Amino acid sequence: MTSTPITDALRSAPPGLHGTGEYWGLAWSALEWLERNLRPEWSTLETGAGASTIVFAAAGTAHEAVTPDAGEEERIRARCSELGVESGAVSFLIGPSHEILARWEPRPLDLVLVDGAHGFPYPVLDWWHVAPHVRVGGTVLLDDAYLPAVSSIVDFARDNAAWRVDDAVSFRTARLTKLADEEPPFFAGADASRGRMRFAYLPPHRRVVASTRQRVFSTRAGLWAVRRLRRGA
Ligand SMILES: C[S@@+](CC[C@H](N)C(=O)[O-])C[C@H]1O[C@@H](n2cnc3c(N)ncnc32)[C@H](O)[C@@H]1O
Repeated sequence: MTSTPITDALRSAPPGLHGTGEYWGLAWSALEWLERNLRPEWSTLETGAGASTIVFAAAGTAHEAVTPDAGEEERIRARCSELGVESGAVSFLIGPSHEILARWEPRPLDLVLVDGAHGFPYPVLDWWHVAPHVRVGGTVLLDDAYLPAVSSIVDFARDNAAWRVDDAVSFRTARLTKLADEEPPFFAGADASRGRMRFAYLPPHRRVVASTRQRVFSTRAGLWAVRRLRRGA
């Protein structure tokens, strides 16, 4: 297995790059995965910045990091210098990602890390802005994939032929591979939901009836049964 000297250095002295003094970075196995797999000829982008940005810098990819905190750029570049990592190929785009990516000059991307704002709907917006520009065969890493706004992207990818969900790169970092250039379908019927419908907006006593009705009568089998009943009536 290839060595991971940058991750090892970060792990031995976890850097506080986010202004709190604490380490808020990717899990070590995710950083190791990046360090082993990034190629210098790749174009890459991340939302959020931190230890991951140092690993992108060390790999020498043409990298953009989107963060609203200009102080992070200073701290990350300083830590790069201390580690002997050249950070010249990294551009920081300072601002919230939903604003920056809406006016971002697109370029084909080999790998994207979504790890900026985690509240709904920001991870979905990050994904929406960059996914069309990920090359077929390219990778999207989604950190904190246990959070609802992030796991909804994984759920979508699992059911969509244009994406494949691969082995996670850490206990919290999901990995998607793009298989085709296709927009998500407009239609999201009961079939598309693959049974993951939630009726939590109704009071508990109405959920069972609503759920049964929707599950039975909006699936292909349910619609077929309704047609049969009508014909028989
Ligand atoms: C968990 S940290 C990222 C960790 C980083 N990947 C690492 O390995 O250290 C979350 C990051 O999101 C940034 N952030 C917060 N709100 C954001 C927003 N609206 N758009 C983009 N980034 C945001 C924070 O400044 C911080 O850099």
